[in-house]
Order: sequence, then C-alpha cells, then structure tokens
Amino acid sequence: MSTSIPHGGQLVNRMDFSLEEDLTRNFVELDNMEFSDLELIANGAYSPMEGFMGKEDYEAVVHGMRLSSGLPWSLPITLAIDEQKASQLHTGETINLVYNGIVYGIMEIAEIFKPDKLIEAAKVFQTEDSSHPGVNKLFKRGPFYAGGKITLTRKPQKSMFEAYYLDPQQTRKKFRELGWNTIVGFQTRNPVHRAHEYIQKTALETVDGLFLNPLVGETKSDDIPSEIRMKSYQVLLENYYPQNRVFLSVFPAAMRYAGPREAIFHAIVRKNFGCTHFIVGRDHAGVGNYYGTYDAQKIFGNFTEEELGIKPMFFEHSFYCRKCENMASEKTCPHDAEHHVILSGTKVRGMLKNGQQPPKEFSRPEVVGVLIQGMQEVYIKN
Ligand code: ADX
Repeated sequence: MSTSIPHGGQLVNRMDFSLEEDLTRNFVELDNMEFSDLELIANGAYSPMEGFMGKEDYEAVVHGMRLSSGLPWSLPITLAIDEQKASQLHTGETINLVYNGIVYGIMEIAEIFKPDKLIEAAKVFQTEDSSHPGVNKLFKRGPFYAGGKITLTRKPQKSMFEAYYLDPQQTRKKFRELGWNTIVGFQTRNPVHRAHEYIQKTALETVDGLFLNPLVGETKSDDIPSEIRMKSYQVLLENYYPQNRVFLSVFPAAMRYAGPREAIFHAIVRKNFGCTHFIVGRDHAGVGNYYGTYDAQKIFGNFTEEELGIKPMFFEHSFYCRKCENMASEKTCPHDAEHHVILSGTKVRGMLKNGQQPPKEFSRPEVVGVLIQGMQEVYIKN
C-alpha cells in the first residue's frame, strides 16, 4: 500500500487565489476555529467536505457519526451566526468570509438552520456540562449555522514556523519522495514526552515513517503554546530520532476536546494527509474526566477498517518504570505503580512555570530546557 486514498476518493481543492474581491457582499466574521476550518476544508485536509455543513450532513454526523452519504465523519464542521445575521442572509447568496477584517474566502449559502445544541453537546462531547471546554465553546457560538460550499480566496499568512504548514498535496508528495509506503500519523497538543516518544518509536518499528503532526490551532488557555512546543519538537527530533524516518509538519485545526469522536476525526484527517496508520493512546483528545481511558480506542469498533481507510494503532498507558529501567505499560511491566513515573499535565505545566525540571524519565532534558525557558517567558509576559 502506498500513501492512503483520500477520504471519499479524492482530495478536495477549494482554493482560488485569482478571484476578484467583492466588498459589496454580505459577510460573516469567522472565529479562530472557523478560520482554521476554512483553510482545512479548502486544502483538502477535510476531504470530502467542500464547505461548512448543511442540516442533513450535520444531523447525520451528530446522530450517526456519518455524513449523509454514509461515509464516516465524527465531528460537525459548522459556521455559526447570530440571530441578526441569520435574518440578513439568504439561501443562494454568496457571502464573504472575513477574519480580522480581511476577506479570506467566500461561501454560497445552501441553507441556514438552527441546531439543537444540547443534543450536539450530549452526542459529540457526551456531556452538557459547560465546564467542558468544547461544550463551553459550543454554547457560546451563535444559535444558527450557515452551510454551503466555500472557496478560499486568500492564503492565510503564517506569523510563525511558516515552513511547517503543508497541505495534504504537499505531505503526500513529501512521503513519496522519502520512499515511505506505510506512514503512521501522530496527533498531539502537548510537548513530546517520553511516553509519546515510546509509542511513536514502537509504531516506527513496524512502519516506514512517522508523521509528527502537532495540532497548533486554538487550544485551551492552559495548554502549552504552540510556538514553545514547536521548538521542543525540533530539539527532540534533532537529538533522538533518525532524520530520514520522521517528518514534522503542523495541523492548524482547533482542538475540540471531544475525546473519542475527535480521535476518529483526527485519524480521517491524517489519512487525507497521506497516512496509512494512526496512533491512538490513552485518553486521546480528552480533557478532565469526561472520557474513559480507552474510549477513544473503543469507538473505532463502530467502523470497518475498510471504510475508515486508515489503520488505528492502539497503545496502552505508557510510563517509565524504575524497576524495569525502561519505558513500559501494564502489558509489559510486572511492577507496582509505586515504581512508575507518572505525572499529570497540570503538574508538569506547574513545574515548568516555576522553572522546576520534571524528571528525565518523564521528559528529555533538551525538551525540558526549551519548555522551561518558553513557559517562563510566557509567565513573565502575563
Ligand atoms: S491529544 O489531545 O493530542 O490526544 P496528547 O498530546 O497528550 O493529547 O496525546 C497525543 C497522543 O499520545 C494521543 O494519541 C494520546 O492518546 C497519546 N498519549 C499521551 N500520553 C500517553 C501515555 N502516557 N501513554 C500512552 N499514550 C499516550
């Protein structure tokens, strides 16, 4: 098998940078998540989607984790508008999609509909609790959704690590150049700690290449900022990974914290980037205690491997065991938990902010160095 077939058969391309701007059109102002979704629909990362979802697809996704065509798809991708906008806009009309006062795209409105957000929350996030960051965001968005095909008319400029933004066309080309036939995708919103490294390298024992694809879109405020994380990935790859077996580029989507459903979404998108395999460890895309440790693995049982078109690689909760003197998991380590080095994300972030080093069994010293410096700069700035 060479790089995977895109979801739905072919990569969508909804980019046209030659279109004349028409400022007389009605417009919708996008938030960070919608802005990143616009780009990812346009460049094919969300293939086969060609626009923000209309009611039929939205309901099929919310209730059955499939598009109305029957193709697996687990998260609604929607454009929210307020009541006033909903009354101004009309079906069939082409509107401008604006971010920070600049027109980046257009959308032909196919329909405007009112979602039931409580149902969306309960189905997608498995909770209606507004202290869940994804639910909180959902409830704050406008009460109507506008659906329709989009076109990206201006390439969003990147202020940081521009070279690491690659479209699916480009990552696929890169994988071909590297001669990789089997590629495992790795999603992360965190620095790569020893447990991440362990599961990546375990996967790398059986496939040709690792696609390290950190999410750098909007995350919750206490996650480590992407500019700090990017430096930590670079230093880790330079020191501990074979250069010809790993490729780093970013995934600019916003984090939803939808746990299991987001794991399916993350896998499908990485298939579009060209991956044949996708790593799902413990509590993938989870937050707090909303999801069971392995729920994001179990959810794959709802789909055949054929219809997903990407092979999930499941990993147990991994840790360093002081007795084994090695990275391990319950599957491989016979020792009691007292010998295991396990730190929560909150605890590690607290240590880094205070300039304290997490143990080297938890995170590589080179990575810790970059993180402490970065976190202290952020801490001082705020
Ligand atoms: S996520 O929100 O992007 O999933 P994170 O960056 O922590 O969060 O995780 C990236 C991937 O590594 C996910 O597949 C997650 O399940 C996995 N993972 C994180 N920590 C561990 C661990 N200690 N053991 C096994 N898998 C892990």
